[in-house]
Amino acid sequence: TYPDEISLDGKTYKTDEWTNVPSYILDLTQRRLHQNPDHPIGILRDLVEQNMKGMGYTFYNDFKPGVTTYQNFDVLGFPQDHVGRSRSDTYYINKDNLLRTHTSAHEHECFRECKTPGYIISADVYRKDEIDRTHYPAFHQMEGARLWSKNSGNLEEIIAKDIEDIPKTNIIVEDPFRENCFSAENPKQDYMTDKEVQLVSTHLKKTVEYLVNQVFEAARKSAKLAGSTEPYLNEPLKIRWVEAYFPWTAPSWEIEVWWKGEWLECCGSGLVRQQVLLNAGLGEDKLGWAFGIGLDRIAMLLFGIPDIRLFWSLDERFSKQFTNGHISTFVPYSKYPGIKRDISFWLPKGVSLHDNEVMEVVRSHAGDLTESVVNIDEFIHPKTGKKSQTYRLNYQSMDRNLTNVHINELHSRVEEDLKKFFDVEIR
Ligand code: PHE
Repeated sequence: TYPDEISLDGKTYKTDEWTNVPSYILDLTQRRLHQNPDHPIGILRDLVEQNMKGMGYTFYNDFKPGVTTYQNFDVLGFPQDHVGRSRSDTYYINKDNLLRTHTSAHEHECFRECKTPGYIISADVYRKDEIDRTHYPAFHQMEGARLWSKNSGNLEEIIAKDIEDIPKTNIIVEDPFRENCFSAENPKQDYMTDKEVQLVSTHLKKTVEYLVNQVFEAARKSAKLAGSTEPYLNEPLKIRWVEAYFPWTAPSWEIEVWWKGEWLECCGSGLVRQQVLLNAGLGEDKLGWAFGIGLDRIAMLLFGIPDIRLFWSLDERFSKQFTNGHISTFVPYSKYPGIKRDISFWLPKGVSLHDNEVMEVVRSHAGDLTESVVNIDEFIHPKTGKKSQTYRLNYQSMDRNLTNVHINELHSRVEEDLKKFFDVEIR
């Protein structure tokens, strides 16, 4: 049940059998939280930009979220059968257009157009996901990249000098791959010398470490200002690099930050594959790195925000708490009690239903009242071979009391849709 046409940011798209983007998601694309200077996401973006100013990067903040499948996947070398392309992971406007799933979707045009050695893109991105305190189908990323040319003199000296120019930090780094930065599992590209790989990856890692240091330093400062005396605030920041895989970088790594007793996955990165640069019309002399960092989790730590959904709240008790340039600790306002409903159903023989599909149906009726959708039981009937699935739905509002009448209404629409779309038999 999608309209024949979808309009987004001045373009009109014909829908087709790939279309799966609900209208409540399309609404989110107009919020542009990263461009709001008084919103935690915008404040964090600004903090990073202030720290990266004067280092040779162009900042791009208004790329629109509707991109082509080509930009988001093909040009980056995603294989045809990559899970990221599936309709259960990605919001398609139609077969050839989708809501970007990452800021890497703009690498192509930035490599083509950027006039400075590097660029930083900030944007909202979309992935079909479960919804809970730390997951939401819309979130924000910041993408950085930096290029050099093999034709610009003594490249090794130039990069070595650029590395010197990155401000020093006192971060404690665990990096088994600093010297041996590539291996059979995480290979280098043939067109780069060992030394070039070594230098470019050092530049990448030091840049990301600097960025992470600045952000977490700001977080510590604000926690101290708020009166916290926790010991971790005075210990140097600890990070580690782990190997990773991305279709458009080689070798690739991820940085994790040690924060309050946990390793937080923070940022994917790697040396850009030559094919991606050639696709953008650049010469064979170009080489460089890229990273992509998630902003929402970090903003939650910085501002002490307990639930990712609060970022999207229109309640003034949320938005009035933040101002440009300040990292302040969120003061919770009262939370209203939630309402639980369980739903159990039999599926047609041989069929099973993805948790995301159930989530989608619930959200299409309950929107942000959907606190969580949890799969609490499933089994196959020994005689009929049919599968039973049970979900616990928690409905809750951030700013008002829900009534049973209202929730019963929503819940029965959810049941109707599950019957209609998936042919289930409610138990
Ligand atoms: N786009 C990747 C992600 O969303 C992160 C990334 C960006 C990795 C650039 C490598 C280079 O996980």
